[in-house]
Amino acid sequence: MQTKLPETQGSHFWEIRQLALENSAIDMSVGTTEFSCPARLAGLAAQYIRDNYNNYASFDGILPLRERISETFFRNYGKKYDPVAEITICAGPAQAATNVISTIVNEGDEVILTDPSYFTYSQAIRLNGGTPVHLPLKEPGFRIDWDDVRKMINSKTRLIILNTPHNPTGSVFGREDMQQLQRLTNGTGIYILSDEGFEYLVYDQEKHQSIAQFPGLASRSFIISGAGPVFHINGWNMAWCMAPANMMKEFRKVSECYGFSVSTPLQYALADYWGQSDELENVTELYQGKRNYFNRLLKGSPYLVEPAQGSYFQLISYKNLSSEADTDFALRLIKEAGVAAMPLSMFMHKKRNLHYLRFCFAKKNETLDEAARRLLSFAQKITA
Ligand SMILES: Cc1ncc(COP(=O)(O)O)c(C=O)c1O
Repeated sequence: MQTKLPETQGSHFWEIRQLALENSAIDMSVGTTEFSCPARLAGLAAQYIRDNYNNYASFDGILPLRERISETFFRNYGKKYDPVAEITICAGPAQAATNVISTIVNEGDEVILTDPSYFTYSQAIRLNGGTPVHLPLKEPGFRIDWDDVRKMINSKTRLIILNTPHNPTGSVFGREDMQQLQRLTNGTGIYILSDEGFEYLVYDQEKHQSIAQFPGLASRSFIISGAGPVFHINGWNMAWCMAPANMMKEFRKVSECYGFSVSTPLQYALADYWGQSDELENVTELYQGKRNYFNRLLKGSPYLVEPAQGSYFQLISYKNLSSEADTDFALRLIKEAGVAAMPLSMFMHKKRNLHYLRFCFAKKNETLDEAARRLLSFAQKITA
């Protein structure tokens, strides 16, 4: 059968997870959390199912949930999105991003996105006949070189994708970056997809900068975010997209094709729970604590750790231990150390061998203790 995605070999992510399972490895490869969905939220979900909120929700999502999102966003960033016309509930951030790309990208269009970046973006661009233009993030710190962006922009550029906090690097892009983006796209017809799914996971007293805070960008931007990381409900696939009404109108036409509506009882449960909980206030502290805890365990070891500025992913360099390709080193780590991490190259278009693995630290301390113990003893073994 002819493939629509010749560059994509299949989901290596699931292969790594499967290998982790087969080798009883601690799986830190993908964004799975060990924290429980709050008991009251789980109870509300069960209650709404029992009370037979089991028919289709409105295609744009239930209004009370959109209202909660709008109020919270206004409180955090001072920008009001109309819950009726400017917010749509989506089945997860990946679907929201794909819907934005499908709304905007036509045959022959170019889309600038960071390299590395979340893997579904470039697949969605290709599915819509577009060309991904990969912008290598620069070390140290995996930063955007705005001169490079300037050189990449041309008359075919239709969309730029920004993701902050950034998966997989844990970098956070700030005010300066937003201002540069605003300067470069001012007066062009370029749209922005701003993936802000980890907006609450920004550390060290820094604050997430939403693209909505920059009026010159907000008027051309689709913002996506989700409830998964905050309420420990990634598997609920509860996300949303926000954009000015004229753009949202087009987004909804596309979004309806890719999933008529999102789980009704779960939307009601979340809307009900939201606002009467302290997760929104406490999640930053929780994950900053986890990042610090895990990194402290590896301190002084051959593993090199530059603390993630955001997200629940930590990049770790093993260059002091081996010059193997990251995919090979990751396999050895699963089989010989019993820890699964994601090779950075899996998120990269240009396979620069940078010797990094990505670890998800959304785990209990016992798990982090055991993972670090295994990593350290593996390091000792191979350097002996
Ligand atoms: C930046 C970013 N965007 C989108 C997604 C997709 O989320 P999901 O797989 O829950 O749809 C993820 C998942 O980790 C992500 O990190």
